Amino acid sequence: MNGHRTVALIVAAGRGERSGSALPKQFATVAGRPMVAHSHAALAGHPAIDHVLVVTGADQVEALEAALGPVPHVAGGATRRLSVLAGLEAIAATGGADRVLIHDAARPFLNADVIDRLLSALDAAPGAVPVLSVPDTVARAVGYALGEVVPREELVRVQTPQAFAFSAILAAHRGWAAEIEPTDDAQLLRAAGGKVVPVMGDIMLEKVTYPGDFAAAEVRAAARFRVR
Ligand code: CTP
Ligand code: MG
Repeated sequence: MNGHRTVALIVAAGRGERSGSALPKQFATVAGRPMVAHSHAALAGHPAIDHVLVVTGADQVEALEAALGPVPHVAGGATRRLSVLAGLEAIAATGGADRVLIHDAARPFLNADVIDRLLSALDAAPGAVPVLSVPDTVARAVGYALGEVVPREELVRVQTPQAFAFSAILAAHRGWAAEIEPTDDAQLLRAAGGKVVPVMGDIMLEKVTYPGDFAAAEVRAAARFRVR
């Protein structure tokens, strides 16, 4: 849609501690390029996106520039939430935006269809997220004690990018006062009373988190698996 300034924010300031990668995982190579370069290319190449801003660690700028060359970036924080907030504040300080897409660098394979679905959904709500169903049996567990099975039909897995009306997600981030660290941005908007709608996600967007996920990402890239 024309007439909106749409900014993409890539969070790439983590340490990738669970991944076992020597390099923070966003700079590790998957399918021939550093993960952050895949996400950046997808967002920068989308016709509805006007500007891409990367949030990276103050000590990671060299790695970012080795991966991407000189690109607009700001310093992140100690948690994902603080990294997103730093990015949103930087956008606010430089002219603001109408819409923002917030994306994990660790989900490298982003296709334009997902972005289209998210931006269309923003016409009807201040937030939109890609979701996938849960194929496994899901049960509560505390340590090794299994609890009740949770009906998986009632569950979805929530991915990124997540799309928001800029002013709504900025206000939700600024107002966040809960003790629990949120794992995504939609939960902040929902906690602030904002509606978030689901759109169809994509198996290609699985996050690289653990050591085995790098090989799985290579396989997905080679086969171009997609949820359709
Ligand atoms: N992230 C960030 N700033 C942080 C923590 C995370 O920008 N302080 C980013 C990561 O770079 C990643 C995304 O948020 O692209 C999702 O986070 P996660 O998968 O948890 O990555 P890491 O925090 O790097 O990994 P780990 O939790 O295993 O250390
Ligand atoms: Mg983390």
